[in-house]
Amino acid sequence: MTDDLDTLKQEVLAALDAATDARSWDAVRVGTLGKSGRLTALLKALGQAAPEERKQRGAALNQLRDALGQAIEARGQALEQAALEARLSGERVDVTLPVPPEPQGLIHPLSRTVEEMVAIFGAMGFAVAEGPDIETDWHNFSALNTPAHHPARTDHDTFYLPPRDGEAPASRVLRTQTSGVQIRTMLAQEPPIRIIVPGRTYRADHDATHSPMFHQCEGLVIGPATGAGAITLGHLKGTVIEFLRAFFGRPGLPVRFRASYFPFTEPSMEIDIGWSRRTGEIGGGEDWLEVLGSGMVHPRVLANCGLDPRQWQGFAFGMGIERLTMLKHGIPDLRSLYESDLRWLRHYGFGALSPAMLHEGF
Ligand code: DAH
Repeated sequence: MTDDLDTLKQEVLAALDAATDARSWDAVRVGTLGKSGRLTALLKALGQAAPEERKQRGAALNQLRDALGQAIEARGQALEQAALEARLSGERVDVTLPVPPEPQGLIHPLSRTVEEMVAIFGAMGFAVAEGPDIETDWHNFSALNTPAHHPARTDHDTFYLPPRDGEAPASRVLRTQTSGVQIRTMLAQEPPIRIIVPGRTYRADHDATHSPMFHQCEGLVIGPATGAGAITLGHLKGTVIEFLRAFFGRPGLPVRFRASYFPFTEPSMEIDIGWSRRTGEIGGGEDWLEVLGSGMVHPRVLANCGLDPRQWQGFAFGMGIERLTMLKHGIPDLRSLYESDLRWLRHYGFGALSPAMLHEGF
């Protein structure tokens, strides 16, 4: 090999050695074999050489081209491999790290029911309202058209609080129903009103289906009494049917409305769903199960809250959260809801990271 070719070879090999990344490697490749690379230029110049020299030099140049081509190729592969290894070692998973703990918390079925109620009624435009657990006798009874000696009061087995200085006896109660929040809401805001009130309630009662502390969810809708936007019994029925079918996840759930009596509604209705007494299946069989109380808000209740019943009207309903939860999940004994038994919760509880979302169905 002639001197100039030998020099070129040494220089290119040295440059390849010095190339430690794809970029500098490519610069060597292009500078040698590229269109205006050094070896390419020598090959082009071959045409001008004398025939004898052309033959010799041509063979030498071809040899050099093969040698450098291979060296370049080999260096490129080595660099690629090194880059891959560097990446792999940087991204390696450390299998000796401890496994992150599984989420341990579970949502209690009662909380889940409240979440589902909020989701269903929320989609219908209801807001959530709250009130105090210690309620005045007036909000809990009197304003709801249940005055002092009304027979309905004795149904409630009320817990009364000891009177404070100067307070009349039995002025404060542990609320026996969430209905008092109807009164608080109507006093606090102008109609239109569309609220649900999930919350704790208390009655002196304890057996497999009653607990001294339990939960109710109240509903109240108030709108105009007349005109196109008037709130009617039809709205009450539509709202409750929609709720029950979404809550139990049964689009065809049979729902029955039965005349009844509550002091704060007129007319009043109890609402039943179809079920089978034999199998406990919701929506099947010939039996009916009462799940809600409801009615058109009594004109006297509206008047007690400063609303003119000729101008405003609406409907209300109330339901037991324990009862609906037990029915939905087949929980036989109410007391198990409060035993804080983790084995029970692992069976009936809900994953903390799967919130109640209406579009996924319940
Ligand atoms: N407060 C009633 C109860 O505890 C339930 C109820 C019935 C609420 C009818 C209402 C209603 O708002 O209209 O038994």
